[in-house]
Parts: sequence; structure tokens; C-alpha cells
Amino acid sequence: MKEYGHFDDASKEYVITRPDTPWPWINYMGTGDFFSLISNTAGGYCFCKDAKYRRILRYRYNGVPMDAGGRYFYIKDGNTVWNPGWKPCKTALDSYECRHGMGYTRITGEKDGLRAELLFFVPLGQRCELQRVRLTNTGNTAKEIKLYSFVEWCLWNASTDMENFQRNLSTGEVEIEPDAIYHKTEYRERRNHYAFLGVNRRFDGYDTDREAFLGMYNGFDAPRQVLAGTSGNSTAHGWSPVAAQRFDLSIAPGESEELIFVLGYVENRPEAKFSAPGIINKAPAREMMEKFSTGAAFDEAFAALGEWWDGLLGRFRIESAVPELDRTVNIWNQYQCMITYFMSRSASYFESGIGRGMGFRDSNQDLAGIVHMVPDRARARILDIAATQFPDGGCYHQYQPLTKRGNNDIGGGFGDDPLWLIFGTVAYIKETGDFSILDEPVPFDNKPGSEVSLLEHLKISFARVADNPGPHGLPLIGRADWNDCLNLNCFSLDPDESFQTTENVSGGQAESLMIAGLFVAEGRDFAELLEHPAVAAPQEYVQKVRSAVAAMEEAVKHYGWDGEWFLRAYDFYGRKIGSSENEEGKIFIESQGWCAMARIGAEEGLCDKALDSAVKLLECEQGMVLNTPAYSEFIPDYGEISSYPPGYKENAGIFCHNNPWVIIAEAMAGRSEDAWRLYRKISPAFPKDQDLRKVEPYVFCQMVAGRDAARPGEGKNSWLTGTAAWTWKCVSEFILGIKPQYDGLLIEPCIPLKYGSYKVHRRFRDAEYELTIHCTGKSAKEFLPYKPGKHYLEITL
Ligand code: GLC
Ligand code: GLC
Repeated sequence: MKEYGHFDDASKEYVITRPDTPWPWINYMGTGDFFSLISNTAGGYCFCKDAKYRRILRYRYNGVPMDAGGRYFYIKDGNTVWNPGWKPCKTALDSYECRHGMGYTRITGEKDGLRAELLFFVPLGQRCELQRVRLTNTGNTAKEIKLYSFVEWCLWNASTDMENFQRNLSTGEVEIEPDAIYHKTEYRERRNHYAFLGVNRRFDGYDTDREAFLGMYNGFDAPRQVLAGTSGNSTAHGWSPVAAQRFDLSIAPGESEELIFVLGYVENRPEAKFSAPGIINKAPAREMMEKFSTGAAFDEAFAALGEWWDGLLGRFRIESAVPELDRTVNIWNQYQCMITYFMSRSASYFESGIGRGMGFRDSNQDLAGIVHMVPDRARARILDIAATQFPDGGCYHQYQPLTKRGNNDIGGGFGDDPLWLIFGTVAYIKETGDFSILDEPVPFDNKPGSEVSLLEHLKISFARVADNPGPHGLPLIGRADWNDCLNLNCFSLDPDESFQTTENVSGGQAESLMIAGLFVAEGRDFAELLEHPAVAAPQEYVQKVRSAVAAMEEAVKHYGWDGEWFLRAYDFYGRKIGSSENEEGKIFIESQGWCAMARIGAEEGLCDKALDSAVKLLECEQGMVLNTPAYSEFIPDYGEISSYPPGYKENAGIFCHNNPWVIIAEAMAGRSEDAWRLYRKISPAFPKDQDLRKVEPYVFCQMVAGRDAARPGEGKNSWLTGTAAWTWKCVSEFILGIKPQYDGLLIEPCIPLKYGSYKVHRRFRDAEYELTIHCTGKSAKEFLPYKPGKHYLEITL
């Protein structure tokens, strides 16, 4: 097995030891509203707030070669031109290393006695990416070299950048100063923002016109100015503006040169846009460059970032007998949860950052992964999400982060969406004890004047499902439930239609057992919340909620049980889906997970049976597939699910997001060996074949190709996936057993006995728990009432 890297837990880094990874292995930088994506060869881009409307660097998706566009440094040393990150020139390096850490990336390349160390990060509270280049002469003769920086600007709207270039090729404008290049396209009209690449010394030459720098028919791998050791000193007028700065450096043996670059973004007040007619007001950019002009300031900002991340991750730390578990829990899973929270599903190497906004259901689920780290942000996010609900309880399926408005292109009508608001809010209050969020006034569809309390929104969410039962008393699926691709009311034969938004036969009564399980689980949570003394809702209403839940349980037992497992759905015509009666798609994972998490029919043995069936029929080497047998052909009655070739995505792929549902249900049933084995399979930190898996070995991916695929085990869609939050919930609450409750922590682990002794450090509100836990296999639990202060406890269960 080829290895491309390894973990360095002490520094919370993943160390990539060769640049030609099977797919670009990326990292994210940013903690506020300025974010960067950076690959192990320094590819990627940055944006402020919105990857579509405020894109700063141009990036080419699906480009050839892969991962074209980034922040490149070129070194011309004699006749050799190389990049510290190997790409784009791909000159063979004497040594290469990339360390992806918490919010920063270090890339070190060495060639012919010159070592180049690059360190990239986005400082706290600043709208810029800092880049430090340290060049060290490791040989014994003096070096005369030329260093070039290079970025290509984007035209701010990443989507028109690719669609309307007849316009954009005429609008590009820059300004140039001896130590900075400013990109000010469209600033002359309605934009108040510009970007810049500044550096803490004067450059010896520059280019801002791409072709003048590269040459008309050259790629990034052969810029003609670099090859010649010159600069065109070009000024871009339209076409493609870039910033390429040249530095002529002499470095004595053993000596180093250090340059600090600021790739920044500035928004000016409209009345302070210009410093002279047509000349942008550069004062804020100057201030930012000044701030980071010294090595000491750079180091200080870097240290502050490290402390910020240590502070967040340090809120939950374990020491167990399994190093892979420790590194997942202490470092990478929490980190991925934060990144997923920041990005939702927008900007990755699998999503362009252009199309999808924030998902209603996705963002609610993401909260479960971050609420213990950034409760205030979780609170704000819940209120934003709730404001995209409609008065009838339905919700916009997605909203745009910049405007916070619902996305009209996709609209609403997804049967599960409203229930996730209860899920997110409950997770928030259990972590924080902050019941006051329930009183916050929240509008409908962002319309001022329509405000009702968040609690009212939750009631409407619940009622939306409770009061609209389908023919079997089960929840209506609408356009889809959690599985976006099970489109039972759609019937599209036109390849130009969206499966999600097409409803070309009216009166859809298809029902979902996944929503049924979700409704029972969230309904119980909701009732418990309502009964809490801090809420003390009228008993009558609580009873109503409880009886709706009980009625749903009955409906599931009567109409949702197939004999060995839970059905998945009833289609438009009332026919079963996910039944032994079906030829294909006999069993689905989502309804086993949710109905078993809701413990529906547990006393009658239904949950155990369903879990047995899931393990028997869905488990394969890399996890559990979504359904089996895979659909072998397109079925218009089922929609997008059957559009995927067998083994991929929602058609029998290992859709990692839903695996923790079954794992949690296994833990609730006390089946620790199953839970552990299944958890291990989807967790990246446990050894995997890196070539086969392809994507980053330090993060969960949305999907791993299932056993029916051409290459089972191949991962796709890494980073931005609900898998992050769900595996976090699964491991922290159900395997390690640290469950936040309204009034304390419930300790209820489910872990194989041989790993059953471990330590947990858990910040919980104003308390710190230092727990030493010993499991003796008795499935016992212990409740720790919340008390501020530090608590050292040894717990034997
Ligand atoms: C994607 C979507 C999510 C959906 C899932 C299953 O991850 O973001 O909303 O639930 O796919 O279709
Ligand atoms: C994919 C995604 C799903 C998304 C759908 C849109 O299958 O997994 O989340 O909504 O495509 O078409």
C-alpha cells in the first residue's frame, strides 16, 4: 500500500509526504467571514462571506490538469524553475512536505540547496490570508535567485466569471504600487470592495496582465516571464488581471530571506470609496499590510490562531487505548465539524461554492457538531434558519448566506425539513441550558412584522408533520425526505428537469418511514423540552404532542414493519418501498436507523431485528450501503435515486451520513461490538488504502463507493457532509457516552470492554469535568447534575 502521509497528533497536523496525492488533499483556513481553501500543492481560492458573490481568486473546476489556480510561488534558480509545493511546474524536488493544521497549511520544498518554507493562514478577525515565504540557503555557495508570487483574480461573481465573459473581459482594472497590486474590477460602479496582494518589501518587477506574464499559449507551469527571469511590468486593462511580483534575492550560505504577503479584501464605506477621482481608497489595505509587516506580528497572529483552535478543541478531549479514536475525537472530527458549519455544503473540491446555499436540514444537523465549541454561533444560526420558515410550517430548503433569504429556485416542500429545527434547537439548549432562545422573536420568510417566538416555530414545525398524515397515518414525504433522491412524487422523463423540484402529477401521497422515525424521536425530545420547568408548557399541549407521537408509533408498527425490518416508504400509488416484496431496494438504511433510534417497537423486538437485518444485508467492508439490492435501472416512479449507477451515491453507495444513525441505534440497544465495528469502518483515521480511498485520510467523506460499484471503497465528496456532525454525536454521546441533558451530563457509554477504560475532559457550560470512566459491561449509566466549577470523578459503570 502506497502511503502519502501520516498524522502528527502532537502538532494536530496531517503530514503529506509526497505531492502527487490521488486527489488534491485540501485544508480550510478562516474563522470569521474570510475563508480560503488550500490544497497540498497550494491550489485553491479564497472568498469573503460568499464564495459566489465575493470570490477573490479564480479557480477552475474540472480543470486539466486537476487543481488549477491557487497562490503560487515560483523560484528561478539558475536555469531551474520550481515551486515549493511542486505544482504547477512539477519540477522534481529534493524534498517536499505539506502539513495541514488547524486553520493553516505549511508547505516546504527543497531544491538544489535552497529550502522554501511557506506558511499560510487567515488571522483571527481579519479579512486576509497571510503568506510567509522563508527561503534558506542550505548549501555552501551564495544564491542569486528570483522569487515570483502569483495569483489570478476572479471577477467577484464566480458564476458570471464563467458565463458572461464577453462583459468581464472588458471590465478588469488594477492599481499598482511599489509593494502592492490592487484588483478593483467594477469598483468604478456599484462595488465598494476590492482585493489586493501586498508584501512587506518593494518588488523588483511585476505583472498584472495574465498573458503578459504567462504568454498567450502557456500554462501556469511555464510562465514566460519566470522562464526568462524578467517581468513585463504590465497593467491589465480587461482580459484577466493577475498579481505577479518579482523579487531578486541574494542569499548567503546558511542565511534566510523572509517575505510576508497579505492577500486581503477591503470594503469601504460608500462615501469613502475613492481617495482621488478614480483612485481607490487604500487606507484600510495599507493598515492591514502595516499590521502584518513584521515577522513578530505574523508570529503573534499565528500563535493567536493556534490558541483559538486549542481553546475550541480543548473543550472535549479524551485519552483512550485507541490512538485512532483519540485523534479523531480530539482533533479531526471536531475540526471537520467546524469547517462544515462554516461552509455548509457550498465550497469544497466537490462543490463550486456557486450553486447551493445553506441547507435547512443540513445546517440544523451541523449544529450538533459545533454547539459544544461555539454555542453563540449556534444560537445565531438557529435563528437565521428559523427565519426561513413559512407560516404553515414548511421551510425553504436552502437559503443564501449573504442575504439570509430563502432560495426560490428550489423552494420548499421537503417533508423532513421542519423537524430538523426541533433537532437543532434541542441540541443547543441541552448543551447550553439557554432556554431564552425559545422566546426570541423570529419572522417567517424573513418578513419584518411576522415575528413569533422560536417556540412557536417549533410548534408549527411539529404540527406540519403531525397534522398532515398520509393514507397510512405516516408522514408525507413531499419532494423528498432526508434522502434528496427518493423523489416519489416527481415522475420526470425529461433530462432537463430537476428531480427535486418537478411535481408533474398532483396529489402526491407518498409516505416516509424515515420521517416517521424522526418524528417520534424529535417529538419525544420536544415533549421533554416542553415539560421542563423552564418552559412549563400547558399540560394539554404536551399531551397532544405525546399522543401524536404514540399514534405515529402505532402507525409504524402496523404499516411500517416488513417482518424483518422497517419499510422505507409508500410510493405515490401506495406501493411499498424497501420491502422483501420488492425485487430491488428491498431494505434501506435510513428507516432502520431512525425507527431504531426512536426505539419504535423495541419491546416487541423490532429494533433488534431491524438492526440485525441492517448488519446482515447492508454492511460491507467500508461501512453500510444505503440500500440493497441496488437499483439496476432508472425507475421514474422513484426518481433520482435510480439515476445513479449501482454502488454510487444514494443508490447503494456507502452514504456515510446515515451510518451513525444505525451505529447510535446499536449503542442504544447496548450492542457495543456492532457499534464499534461499524464506526471503525467509516472513520478515516483507521488505516485505509489511501490510493483506493483517494480523498483526504483525515476527514470523513459523504460517500464511499459501495460494493456494487466499479471500485468499492473509493471515497468522494470529502469535508462538507453531515457525516461530520453525526459521527461526532455518535462517538461523543453514544460510544463514549457523554450526553448533554438540560440539567447535567448523563454518562452512558457503549464501547467494547477492552477499550472500556478512558479519560474524558469535558467543558460543559461553566463546568469542567475530568472523568475517568471504567466500563464493566453492565450497560449502567450515571447522571452528573450541572454544577459550575471543576470536577474530578472516577466512574465505574
Ligand atoms: C446531501 C444533502 C443532504 C441530503 C443528503 C442525502 O448530503 O446535502 O441534504 O440529506 O445528500 O440525499
Ligand atoms: C446528490 C446529493 C444530494 C443532492 C442531490 C441534488 O445526490 O447527494 O444531496 O441534493 O444530488 O440533485
